[in-house]
Amino acid sequence: MIKEIATRRSIRKYKQDEIPEAIIRQMIQAAALAPSGKNRQPWKFLIYEKEAKAELLAGMEKGIFRETEGEALLPESAYGLSDAKNTLRIMREAPVVVVVMNPGGSSPFEPLTNDERMKEIVDSLSAGAAIQNMLLEAEHLGIGTLWIANTCFAYPELMEILNEKGQLLGAVALGYANEAPGPRPRKKLEEIIEYRC
Ligand SMILES: Cc1cc2nc3c(=O)[nH]c(=O)nc-3n(C[C@H](O)[C@H](O)[C@H](O)COP(=O)(O)O)c2cc1C
Repeated sequence: MIKEIATRRSIRKYKQDEIPEAIIRQMIQAAALAPSGKNRQPWKFLIYEKEAKAELLAGMEKGIFRETEGEALLPESAYGLSDAKNTLRIMREAPVVVVVMNPGGSSPFEPLTNDERMKEIVDSLSAGAAIQNMLLEAEHLGIGTLWIANTCFAYPELMEILNEKGQLLGAVALGYANEAPGPRPRKKLEEIIEYRC
């Protein structure tokens, strides 16, 4: 197995050292080499640092507050709000946050036809492959990462700040790790393989 597949961990504590631009570009280059349905390459990466990141995360805080105290768009997911607050803290600590967009996607709060839903599934899988490439390349380069979907709690607030067409898929926090967590539990192969011979 490729070493980085086994050694990568979600990192939730970061040092404040900046990441060189060339390293970020190399990670995005790895993402861009991922396979994608119909080779649509349904991804765009927005690199947030410093004041721009602080402004973005203020929007995320606003959204989490609205979900908690105001008009919740995801009421059945409210159990995830405390985790989202923790994710926001981590994003503030990480020196870089990469926002991942599907430029051809639509708002998750709009209805879809069956055809559109199928395309959305394929595009989401493709973008996931790109994100995983980025995470593995980061691991290879000694950069810690956290894949983030908790942006969903502040979807409208973040979209307003992003000022970008398409669908917000999530984000990846980047930075030099300030922790060395052990492996998290995984299902046994027997639980996830079923032979149909
Ligand atoms: C699509 C996706 C979304 C995730 N969203 C978050 C998140 O918003 N906040 C967080 O702390 N971790 C998030 N994670 C990280 C997972 O919690 C983590 O991958 C899992 O617990 C396994 O740990 P490991 O990555 O160290 O192997 C996400 C992971 C994936 C793949």
